[in-house]
Amino acid sequence: MSLHLNAQPGQIAETVLLPGDPLRAQHIAETFFENPVQHNTVRGMLGYTGTYKGQRVSVQGTGMGIASSMIYVHELITGYGCKNLIRVGTAGSYQPHVHVRDLVLAQAACTDSNINNIRFGAKNFAPIADFSLLLRAYQIAQERGFATHVGNIMSSDTFYQDEFQQFQQWADFGVLAVEMEAAGLYTLAAKHGVRALTILTISDHLITHEETTADERQLTFNGMIEVALDAALGLETESQQG
Ligand code: HPA
Repeated sequence: MSLHLNAQPGQIAETVLLPGDPLRAQHIAETFFENPVQHNTVRGMLGYTGTYKGQRVSVQGTGMGIASSMIYVHELITGYGCKNLIRVGTAGSYQPHVHVRDLVLAQAACTDSNINNIRFGAKNFAPIADFSLLLRAYQIAQERGFATHVGNIMSSDTFYQDEFQQFQQWADFGVLAVEMEAAGLYTLAAKHGVRALTILTISDHLITHEETTADERQLTFNGMIEVALDAALGLETESQQG
């Protein structure tokens, strides 16, 4: 048990998918896991553990934003020994060539959050993905025919901003898309020496305002979950051996 998770010790797998929305956690467990068991109910932030293709795996809702998600990531790592943390979420595109429903694998994450200023002061820390997870996810996404982009993203503390054009500077520096959690996840993974990756589907477009139907978004979301789960297959065995 930890402060925000009431799972028993050993009840959460080494590999955990991290959607922001707890109902997405339930959907992932019910759709993709064999024999899912609910391991968390605290604050309605649902979490489940089951197996996928015979390997133990968990999914844990994190809530929105760096502040909420870092609480769960911290407790999963320090309280339950989780080693492979894969955020699965949505993002808004900053680039004309990154379309709605495309996949973005976040190689690195910029942020306007103060988390790392608190840690490092005037020095900058570069939060990056685990390369082995990134490579696996990229190869699987390519094999399955997803339009997939790998690069820098922006983890923002604010969804609604006073000045809409604030995103332009990030776009000018090649940042692909905006979401609200990856920089915190990558920083904690680095601190604790575990693997992390963020896989995103583009749900909205800040420049073109392209739209898709809810059904199309769900289809892409499910494809992304399978990429995440397959990318993680075998990692648990590796870390047990290592
Ligand atoms: N901003 C921040 N987070 C998001 C967005 C956005 O436009 N779309 C999906 N997640």
